[in-house]
Amino acid sequence: MYKAKAYSVANATSPFASTTIERRDLDAHDVQIEILFCGICHSDLHQARDEWREVMPTIYPCVPGHEIVGRVIKIGAAVTKFKPGDLAGVGCLVDSDGTCPECKAGLEQFCPNATLTYNSTDKHLGGVTYGGYSDSIVVTERFVLRIPRNLDLAGTAPLLCAGITTYSPMRYWDVTKGKKVGIVGLGGLGHMGVKFSHALGAHTVVFTTSASKKDDALRLGANEVVLSRNANEMAKHADSFDFILDAVAAEHDINAYINLLRRDGNLTIVGAPEKPLPLAVFSLIFGRRSLSGSPIGGIVETQEMLDFCGEHNITSDVEVIPIQKINEAYERLLKSDVKYRFSIDMASLKAE
Ligand SMILES: NC(=O)c1ccc[n+]([C@@H]2O[C@H](COP(=O)([O-])OP(=O)(O)OC[C@H]3O[C@@H](n4cnc5c(N)ncnc54)[C@H](OP(=O)(O)O)[C@@H]3O)[C@@H](O)[C@H]2O)c1
Ligand SMILES: [Zn+2]
Ligand SMILES: [Zn+2]
Repeated sequence: MYKAKAYSVANATSPFASTTIERRDLDAHDVQIEILFCGICHSDLHQARDEWREVMPTIYPCVPGHEIVGRVIKIGAAVTKFKPGDLAGVGCLVDSDGTCPECKAGLEQFCPNATLTYNSTDKHLGGVTYGGYSDSIVVTERFVLRIPRNLDLAGTAPLLCAGITTYSPMRYWDVTKGKKVGIVGLGGLGHMGVKFSHALGAHTVVFTTSASKKDDALRLGANEVVLSRNANEMAKHADSFDFILDAVAAEHDINAYINLLRRDGNLTIVGAPEKPLPLAVFSLIFGRRSLSGSPIGGIVETQEMLDFCGEHNITSDVEVIPIQKINEAYERLLKSDVKYRFSIDMASLKAE
């Protein structure tokens, strides 16, 4: 074992503070990564504050972070995919059983024995896994992603969660040219959704509660922007969407969006608010519309997404911050005030 620097929260109401954590020594298939950038996902905030206690209670101290980009510094004897000096990425998953039907289908996100990057049982050291708000991490090579060389690293980190979480359902629901696609909530996930929808050729409409984000939405690739609190603007789009991706982090009215779907249209929810959302079932029944959810993506698809980003020069729009600004960043995230993802420059951790 060795010690790594990190930032953790001690309980649901405490601010982040500097700490040290233990990382395992490498076994044959492990890769040790020096973390260069880690994105701040709203899921980090939900879990740091135990907002998902009903489904996955947080074990403290908690070191969040699952949008990790770094450089390989050491490899185990059997590692073939990476060598020291290579760029590497780690997302929300660091292990799975590899033997269940989900794993065999390349859908590790559904494996009943998957290990999440943080707040999951640590099979090696006991206790709980610690995420990317740290200067290094050790991960088995099957869960380490290759990073296209042409991309800016600070903006690449968020692809590991915000990127795959929006790319995967768009591929599953066949977002292509000729389709009308809505993206609800222009945050970290939402702005990636806009970029992918645009790159896949769909007519893209952004729904936002923030009038100030209108110009950005168009710049990011939207064809139209709707202020979702304006009922008249919403009504103009009734019965017209093939697919809507809902990436909102808080309570809101999903029924208003279901009514915008055409017959057989689908609304996929990726946002994971703390409280249940009421559903008016008649809007589903009358249009044979469907409502579904989607969690992150498997490893093969995550690599496909990263390669797609390399080819299309897609990264996240980031505000790079030193880790010492993390408590401030969380408060701004709660106010939907980030353009459009915080990416922590881990070099700042050296000062601790
Ligand atoms: N399914 C998965 O696998 C997965 C993966 C990652 C994250 N998530 C979840 O997805 C959600 C979004 O994450 P994120 O990191 O993109 O968060 P974020 O950057 O905070 O973006 C959320 C956006 O939702 C909108 N919003 C916030 N409060 C709202 C309200 N009260 N009513 C309507 N809209 C509101 C805002 O957009 P506007 O200003 O444009 O309105 C905000 O920018 C979180 O719940 C997160 O936990 C799920
Ligand atoms: Zn995330
Ligand atoms: Zn499995």
